[in-house]
Amino acid sequence: MCGIVTAIATNNIVPVLLEGLRKLEYRGYDSAGLAVLSGELTRLRSAGRVAELAALADARQLSANIGIAHTRWATHGVPSERNAHPHISGGLAVVHNGIIENFEAIKTGLQARGYVFTSETDTEAIAHLIHSKLQGTPDLFEAVRLATNELVGAYAIGVLAEADPFRAIVARRGSPLLLGVGEDGMYAASDTAALLQVTRKVVYLEDGDLAELRRDSYRIVLADGTPVEREVHLSSLSADAVELGKFRHYMQKEIFEQPQALANTLELIAGGGGISPQHFGARAAEVFEGVRRVLVLACGTSYHAGLVARYWIEAIAKLPVTVEIASEYRYRESVPDPDTLVVVISQSGETADTLAALKHAKSLGMERTLAICNVPESAIVRETALRFITRAGPEIGVASTKAFTTQLAAFALLTLALAKLNGRLSAADEERHLVALRHLPVAVQKVLELEPEIEKWAQRFASKEHALFLGRGSHWPIAMEGALKLKEISYIHAEAYAAGELKHGPLALVDKDMPVIAVSPHDQLLEKLKSNLQEVRARGGELYVFADAGSEIPESEGVHILHMPEHYGMLSPVLHVIPLQLLSYHAALVKGTDVDKPRNLAKSVTVE
Ligand code: F6R
Repeated sequence: MCGIVTAIATNNIVPVLLEGLRKLEYRGYDSAGLAVLSGELTRLRSAGRVAELAALADARQLSANIGIAHTRWATHGVPSERNAHPHISGGLAVVHNGIIENFEAIKTGLQARGYVFTSETDTEAIAHLIHSKLQGTPDLFEAVRLATNELVGAYAIGVLAEADPFRAIVARRGSPLLLGVGEDGMYAASDTAALLQVTRKVVYLEDGDLAELRRDSYRIVLADGTPVEREVHLSSLSADAVELGKFRHYMQKEIFEQPQALANTLELIAGGGGISPQHFGARAAEVFEGVRRVLVLACGTSYHAGLVARYWIEAIAKLPVTVEIASEYRYRESVPDPDTLVVVISQSGETADTLAALKHAKSLGMERTLAICNVPESAIVRETALRFITRAGPEIGVASTKAFTTQLAAFALLTLALAKLNGRLSAADEERHLVALRHLPVAVQKVLELEPEIEKWAQRFASKEHALFLGRGSHWPIAMEGALKLKEISYIHAEAYAAGELKHGPLALVDKDMPVIAVSPHDQLLEKLKSNLQEVRARGGELYVFADAGSEIPESEGVHILHMPEHYGMLSPVLHVIPLQLLSYHAALVKGTDVDKPRNLAKSVTVE
């Protein structure tokens, strides 16, 4: 979602702002803009890509030492130049990520005082509110503080003012924002990737923090104005990790990074390491002690990882598991149990609904919380008692791939750790699982080699308008994940069903124009699944089956089989999702969609 960059330096900061926005493009956006001070306030906005904004800046030969910039993902008001940030009030400009819930009330009050609104955004209300505070105090920093104290909702903002050209002000509550401490200047951005071009020294702002940036210094205060020190971290994010390299798209790169991402995530058990609660933090044994059930809260792809985990944890650790969509859970009247382990899963760690669901669970007295997350300093990680950081590396493509498989790896470790604590894991079984986990990156690598065959399937697929995905057991969520991937990047309508449900309704949809993709591992449900596939074939449906070696489903007219290299027991879902990711990727390529930035979607969903 929206991305922010702020810079104040001895050199021209326009290239820094633009490069920062390019690095934030992956978050998803529909318009872009910037404002700089160079004697006077100059604002440029474009209802298109950052490249168009850069062309505008070039044409103007824009140069300045202080500026703010923004990529906007529309919430209040359509994507348009008029609604693009920065928004201006007098000589003051503001960029904002988040949603201000009380903006209507603020707007009405400001309109009554004569402020004229030129956009439909909530952000313009922030600009006018700060401007109005400047009538009571000459200090911009104080005016921003007073204004933000009146905001209800989520925000990360960057502010600059013509009358105060030697500092920029930033503030955050609920939306991500970090400072970059450079040699020649001070910076702020929505994530580290935007600032690697100028510094590796970063300071993560906490909720309620405000910071004043000057060329050679910064200071941070709490919402009540009390000065506060925040630790300076040295980011280890490599610049290569956010570059495309030899790949055509980030999604493709990230699919192919999965063996390494899994190896990194599973490093804890590489060599001789066994299963231990310590994988989840020093206090894990204490937190896990006496846990009687597990509640998983997540959204989208992360939710699908939770659904797979339910099969594993119930079968192996023998604990009951509930998996809930975070946006539903947070508003539902549920029955809390303090002996529940609440597991929140999130690639970004910033997903507003997941964060709110976690806070809701805690407010109900459930304090045994664990985050499985890919971003160590994210808001969600900072809210939980325990954490497991997946080591997938930055995921830039909007469609989640390597984050999903590493989440599954984390859940496999959690399943085994809980089983071990409950006396449900024999030494022999532990060893068997450890061997399988250590071999997982190699097994995934072999699946990736199926790409050329999947590419051929994708050619046939791309002309379809609908597709049905089927799976059973722990592969049903994999079918759901396959359907989600296909619809989000190729815009082909796709549904997933537990194959046994077919004849209870969706079979009515099956005809020769409806491709049916079956996730068909060689497990105890294979024979049942084969019967379901017969039901499809009998109605003229064309079948695309991802079968394991030894599944013995014969290829025939209308039945296309792709054999996976090996059957992989409990971890089979990790392998079976890979061809579905590749299928969606190649179908999208054939259709010519914007693979890494699908329409209407954002990478990091920081608003409700
Ligand atoms: C789909 C996808 C989304 C995310 C969802 C949750 O490919 O990426 O469905 O999984 O928005 O995001 P995180 O995991 O960051 O909480």
